[in-house]
Amino acid sequence: MNKIRLLVVDDVPQTRKDIIRLLYFEDDMEVVGEAGNGIEALQKMNELMPDVVLMDINMPQMDGIKATERARQIYPDISVIIISIQGESEYLKKSMVAGARDYLVKPLTSEDMATAIRSVYKQQHLHSSQQNSIHQEIPTGNNPPITGSVNIETGYHKNPADSRDFSSTVYQSRQPSGQQMEEPLSGGLRMIQQQEKQLPHGSVPPANKVMQIPQPESKPLGLVTLVFCGKGGVGKTTLATNLAVVLAQNEKKKVALIDLDLQFGDIAVMLNLTDGKTISDMVRDQQALNSDTLTNYMLRHFTGIDILPAPLFPQDAEYVTTQHVGTILRLLKENYDYIIIDTASAFHDINLQALDFTDQILLVANRDLATIKNVKTSLNILDSLDLRDKIRLVLNRSDQDLGVEIADLEKGVELVVSHQIPSDERSVISAINKGVPVVLSSGSAEISKSFRRLGEKMVGGKRLPNQEKQGKALINRIFSL
Ligand SMILES: Nc1ncnc2c1ncn2[C@@H]1O[C@H](COP(=O)(O)OP(=O)(O)O)[C@@H](O)[C@H]1O
Ligand SMILES: [Mg+2]
Repeated sequence: MNKIRLLVVDDVPQTRKDIIRLLYFEDDMEVVGEAGNGIEALQKMNELMPDVVLMDINMPQMDGIKATERARQIYPDISVIIISIQGESEYLKKSMVAGARDYLVKPLTSEDMATAIRSVYKQQHLHSSQQNSIHQEIPTGNNPPITGSVNIETGYHKNPADSRDFSSTVYQSRQPSGQQMEEPLSGGLRMIQQQEKQLPHGSVPPANKVMQIPQPESKPLGLVTLVFCGKGGVGKTTLATNLAVVLAQNEKKKVALIDLDLQFGDIAVMLNLTDGKTISDMVRDQQALNSDTLTNYMLRHFTGIDILPAPLFPQDAEYVTTQHVGTILRLLKENYDYIIIDTASAFHDINLQALDFTDQILLVANRDLATIKNVKTSLNILDSLDLRDKIRLVLNRSDQDLGVEIADLEKGVELVVSHQIPSDERSVISAINKGVPVVLSSGSAEISKSFRRLGEKMVGGKRLPNQEKQGKALINRIFSL
């Protein structure tokens, strides 16, 4: 018999040990991994594909609710049981909305835990097999497939064969009935029963707000390039904009440029787009996001690229949720050959969501110590998200000596520069004033040639060559000199 594979997530090592000890004598389950926060938990889910995750709520970096929410989107086949302490019962509803399958309250007994684990595993198993027979899988690039439909407001994935929504899981399936609920109710389930009357019925996702994910096409998915740096002013937007244009010009391919610097994005200003439609209008006006929505809201620039600008006002950024971003990026991947994402300088939900859909990350650096320190920190975080192999270092203003040699920079961040873009104040300022990308306004300038060379490296939907191995060789070479 296959054992139920468990991941234990808690920021206190002793608590993890206690949980593992409590489950030690359960022959039908095994703990395959541990994690100390939400980010680590998602990483371990990717690596280990456990059946059930026992998830603490309050943890640093990413809490258990957020991690559960993201797990439901990325790994719908993994069941999460939230573990909370007495007095945190306000988290019950949040946990369930996030997609947790059960909710246990400490202090835990081994019987409570084992019963809950078996119950959610059995339900998940049952639903997966029903789902397999009913549903086709929808490929989402490098991520595991997501099936069925998703609620636009909650991002909640709903399958006809899936009882995870409130109507069936929290209310209905809590009643012991038939095959699904043979086990006695665990402590957590009992607690839910006591509390369920207090839950507002409005929590049930209204059926008319459920949007359909388009069926897969045989066409290959577009290459998603995300431009990032933890520091502002390094040239992310300049790079994203000009790269999009050269890619469109090189191959006559469909290119989308999306501004996910939701509060202060300035792509629309840089490209003099006066239409006024933005990503916040798109998500506010539309209950169902689909390919038609893209056609209606993506702004066609005269260069041929399609642009989804950031909101005009910072306060409108809040209309755009991570679920919207996920849906939009999935649609873009299905409808475009290249998708370029400009970002805000932060590791927040929106960027983390976008990173899930990203094939390569252009990490932008300049040759000053503050930026390099920032790049190093960004690299550490991206490393912890297991994204190292997607990172390509792009050095902007590469000829501007701000005190750091390029070789020292590469040694410092342990990565070789994949591409260099020179500094050219005059051309760049003139481009901004004209509202056109520099590759068009000063086509023969060195900076424009450099953007074109970058585009050529990506011809045919390729990522830039991975420079890390060469980087190590280079560093070795430096040391061996
Ligand atoms: N290679 C370059 N040469 C000259 N100026 C540049 C270059 N790259 C960016 N800039 C200028 O630096 C400023 C910041 O660039 P921007 O692309 O907006 O950075 P970010 O998006 O990282 O905040 C802008 O005024 C831009 O015109
Ligand atoms: Mg910017």
